[in-house]
Amino acid sequence: MTASLAHALRLIAEHGHAAPWLTKARAEGSVMADALARALIDDDGERSAYDAPQAFEVFIRGGGNASLYSAVSATLARLYEQLGVRCLLDIGVGDGLALLPALGQTRPAPTTVDVVEPSGGLLDALRPRLPAGKAWQLTLQAFLAQLAPERRWDLAQSTFALQSIAPGERLVALKKLRRHVTRLAIVEFDVPVFSSADERFASLAQRYERAASEYGDDAALVAGGFLAPMLLGQLRTAAPSNWEQPISAWQDELVRAGYRVAATTHVHDYSWAPAWLIVAKA
Ligand SMILES: C[S@@+](CC[C@H](N)C(=O)[O-])C[C@H]1O[C@@H](n2cnc3c(N)ncnc32)[C@H](O)[C@@H]1O
Repeated sequence: MTASLAHALRLIAEHGHAAPWLTKARAEGSVMADALARALIDDDGERSAYDAPQAFEVFIRGGGNASLYSAVSATLARLYEQLGVRCLLDIGVGDGLALLPALGQTRPAPTTVDVVEPSGGLLDALRPRLPAGKAWQLTLQAFLAQLAPERRWDLAQSTFALQSIAPGERLVALKKLRRHVTRLAIVEFDVPVFSSADERFASLAQRYERAASEYGDDAALVAGGFLAPMLLGQLRTAAPSNWEQPISAWQDELVRAGYRVAATTHVHDYSWAPAWLIVAKA
């Protein structure tokens, strides 16, 4: 079943459509083929995986994400305690699923917790539960453009969010951020490097289909509202919206932005790829 889906992914990447192969994969039972066929009908090349926050919120609370997020939050809580973080900034906080449990497990908790998140829907869900601090509904790039030079945080963290920023803009943003923080902690997936395009499409097809299949009655919602736009954002060569990379490439990027990588720690083996924490000194 995923062989037909993989072939469809290649055609979408190369030509923007793959109706016959999506129909074949759909007939073979692929949840992702159905979601992609629907997503491609009204795809304007600009739809983000976070435009339908409900699908993302269901996604991160189900399947293998429950154990991933509990590992991420526990790791962050240990880091706050180890560093004695008082003033914290979360970049691309989403609805706070990594942040809030981490704060709940930290004694003493940081006194200021500021957050940046471009999605109004995700931020609205977080706002009532956010402790002392400010919430900016902005991208990291826009946030840095309006930031007073003297604003500083002990720690800026970003969990699975920097992958949403194009590499060129991300490097500029990371350099600017360095003036405002003592340390930066990022959690990202150590995605594999593929030796051929065929290997990459086969892996994407298998991993997305496996993710969708973990959601039972919510599979159509999660696949249609989150996984399909995320996958299209990885396939589109003209207007991509996701730039994952191996952990070694994240380390190199932080060094190029002027940080010193202090520690790189394995957090959790998730079905998509292992998640790692990198702590860097600004
Ligand atoms: C996979 S989610 C992770 C959310 C949250 N950090 C978590 O761990 O659950 C990626 C987040 O990055 C946000 N995002 C996308 N582009 C961004 C940008 N340019 N600056 C900051 N955040 C961004 C999205 O809106 C989304 O909330």
